[in-house]
Amino acid sequence: MVPDIAQLERRARALLPREIYDFYAGGSGREETLRANVKAWRRRWLLPHVLRDVSSVDTSLSLWGTALRTPVAVAPTAFQRLAHPEGEVATAAAAAQAGALFVLSTRSSCRIEDVGAAVAEPGGTWWFQVYVMRDRGLTAALVRRAVAAGAAALVLTADAPVIGRKRRDRGEDVVTPAEFFVNTGPLADAGDAEQAADVTFADIGWLSSLGGGIPVLVKGVLRPDDAQACVAAGAAGVIVSNHGGRQLDRALPTALALAPVAGALRDGAAPAGPAGPAGRSAVFVDGGVRAGEDVLAALAAGAVAVFVGRPVLWALACGGAPGVRDLLTGLTGGLAHAMALAGAASLADVPGLAYPGDTD
Ligand code: FNR
Repeated sequence: MVPDIAQLERRARALLPREIYDFYAGGSGREETLRANVKAWRRRWLLPHVLRDVSSVDTSLSLWGTALRTPVAVAPTAFQRLAHPEGEVATAAAAAQAGALFVLSTRSSCRIEDVGAAVAEPGGTWWFQVYVMRDRGLTAALVRRAVAAGAAALVLTADAPVIGRKRRDRGEDVVTPAEFFVNTGPLADAGDAEQAADVTFADIGWLSSLGGGIPVLVKGVLRPDDAQACVAAGAAGVIVSNHGGRQLDRALPTALALAPVAGALRDGAAPAGPAGPAGRSAVFVDGGVRAGEDVLAALAAGAVAVFVGRPVLWALACGGAPGVRDLLTGLTGGLAHAMALAGAASLADVPGLAYPGDTD
């Protein structure tokens, strides 16, 4: 069944305490970017092929040697035990069951090792998202634990040197109870676990050496020049993202930022770090993706895979691990259906499908 994400959100809203719903749903400033992210995908048009054999449609792909059944992946989101008692462990296990990639937040409310074990059991793949914290020793310790627990790549979040001011935040502390800081420990209270504001391109190399050579991706890139600088500094690729409209309000919707970034990395120098598919730097995207057609539009514009954030939280709140699994398989089913209608039997057929013109 193709999921109706708006309906899922309404159900989650009815279930969750209001301040938790607002923490998950909200954006920064006047929430212009939050709203525009969703709308912008709907303005990206596709040019379908006809008369192709689509009797079987294959959504699988390989990323740095690991096989995934779907390019729909789970974005890192903080404190998932606010949505469901099993939190990140449930989400990670569900993603692995769906053949989808899972990214664990630095602000996970479950222990890194427990998440690693939950993914390993069904044979899945997970990456670790890194906030460089003021205490770099603490940051390094978390990264080493994640790598030891099986993380296959590191994701450096680059768009949060300070935390965006959320319009709906009424100053209540309820969303981050102390017991949810299971990985960073009591240092969180001292400010050492807060994000560092002096993170630079040099930290890509630092993370790369901490990771022992696993790919490092930079999340939160919207500009082609920054994407090229990330790759020159050793990143294996970038995630085009504006943090789901939670950081700089008025940052460009990702549906508009994606194609120029993908073009710059396709035409630019070969990556200094580990190359992605086809020997190039890999480009990913998130923000406002809510349907199979959105996923197809993103892949058509040059993304290798697409992350979803809030819909996973709604699915977790409403249905725990089975709910998340159903969401991911449902979105993948929606993608496969759209691919069939667009004449694409595999993901290799998708890149030519984007209508390149200005459509607004
Ligand atoms: C996030 N996001 C995020 N990103 C990150 O790198 N580390 C984090 O800890 C978090 N935490 C977080 C919490 C919540 C409640 C949300 C909604 C988002 C951003 C996330 O990875 C992703 O960029 C967006 O959620 C994608 O947009 P959609 O799919 O939610 O529209």
